[in-house]
Amino acid sequence: MATTPAESQTIDRGRLHVLLERERRRYASEHPRSRELSRQAQTTLLAGVPMSMMGMLPGAFPLFFEGARGDRLTDVDGHSLIDFCLGDGGALTGHSPAAVVEAVHRHLDEQGGLTTMLPTADAVIVGAELGRRFGLPLWQFALTATDANRWVLRLCRMVQKRRYVLVFNHCYHGSVDETIVMVGPDGTPMAKPGNVGPQIDPIQTTKVVEFNDLDALSAALAPRDVAAVLMEPVMTNIGIVLPEPGFLEAVRALCDESGTLLIDDETHTLSAGIGGCTRAYGLHPDLVTVGKAIASGIPMAAYGVSAEMGERILADPEADLVDTGGVGGTLAGNALSSAAARATLERVLTEPNYEHMVALATRYSAGVQAVIEEYAMPWMVLQLGARAEYRFCAKVPRSGGESWAARDAELDEFMHLSLLNRGIFTTPFHNAALMCPETSAADVDRHTAVFTEVVGELRS
Ligand SMILES: Cc1ncc(COP(=O)(O)O)c(C=O)c1O
Repeated sequence: MATTPAESQTIDRGRLHVLLERERRRYASEHPRSRELSRQAQTTLLAGVPMSMMGMLPGAFPLFFEGARGDRLTDVDGHSLIDFCLGDGGALTGHSPAAVVEAVHRHLDEQGGLTTMLPTADAVIVGAELGRRFGLPLWQFALTATDANRWVLRLCRMVQKRRYVLVFNHCYHGSVDETIVMVGPDGTPMAKPGNVGPQIDPIQTTKVVEFNDLDALSAALAPRDVAAVLMEPVMTNIGIVLPEPGFLEAVRALCDESGTLLIDDETHTLSAGIGGCTRAYGLHPDLVTVGKAIASGIPMAAYGVSAEMGERILADPEADLVDTGGVGGTLAGNALSSAAARATLERVLTEPNYEHMVALATRYSAGVQAVIEEYAMPWMVLQLGARAEYRFCAKVPRSGGESWAARDAELDEFMHLSLLNRGIFTTPFHNAALMCPETSAADVDRHTAVFTEVVGELRS
């Protein structure tokens, strides 16, 4: 059901409905091949998509894509789209960057072997490079950020011998059981509505407080029963929620006081720079997790630990780290992922490319801000490095809860579909735009022009 925050009441809802219907009809008529594939998929794929989140695309059926390169995506009906979604971050590198394609081909043509359950020289280099970027010396690999988070939470519980982990309200760290929890109406934790088949009620494993609420965090950590805090240094999955000045330092201090480990999940905040927020803000987490873009979209994720944490992990005589104890997987650290990660880190997610990406996100934000002002929309735009996002509220949200209250499903669909119908693809679950090395100023200006047209129509 569409939700309507107070600030969006200034929008003429009747007009919005008419425009949304028009955009739905246009999408349906201009994408016959996607519609046909979607029809066929209803009989071969559960819910008609290979992964349930793909069902969240705007329109009556999902867009099927044929190919993608750089920041361009071609759909099966032949439309060329400027891609600001970039696989929700997995293609922050741009689609199929030449350096990675070349490294993968070289590996396959010259060495061969996709996965062997043996380490490669590339893995050693990737560990060193991640260590340089994030300031943590010891790394292991996973295939998804979800798995990296799952495994570090296990490792933290193991060494800490504590019952709880703590996350922030409306976080997303992948489909990790302990994190699918939120602050309930009475301020205490509750399982997120819609949580699919949890093994146990996550309130038995997890404490949850609002981002930027140091009093609540302090109270939650005081009993010294929390093994680790798992956080994004800047929340990104409920819109961008920035830490208030001093918040991240205070989180570190509260963790130290209570003997709690601190994990920074940099999977999305990698947009902040080559070492995510950890490097950009000079943070000192005990563990870092990162995934998605680090091998340009070839499945690969990683977690890094401090020397002390490394010692504690390896010192536990009870822990089965090498067999079926619950961390690791046969495909993790495979040769293909490691080769792709090495090329990505050495040649794609580089300082010069970030300079370009951040400058374009700044240009994008300025374009959006100008439209917001021109049409006096009660909206705003925030930026985290190469990521920019507009929100349907005028006041900067301080927490996940405040940001959640500003959502507007109907307006979301209208914006996403209108942009898509005009050649701009944005992330279905966010109003975020990501810049990659191939994004150009002309692409950003095209977005600004389309955004101006769409918001103008909404206002007239
Ligand atoms: C912060 C964060 N961590 C972890 C994940 C999980 O990533 P994956 O779906 O690749 O496992 C996501 C996914 O959006 C994320 O945003």
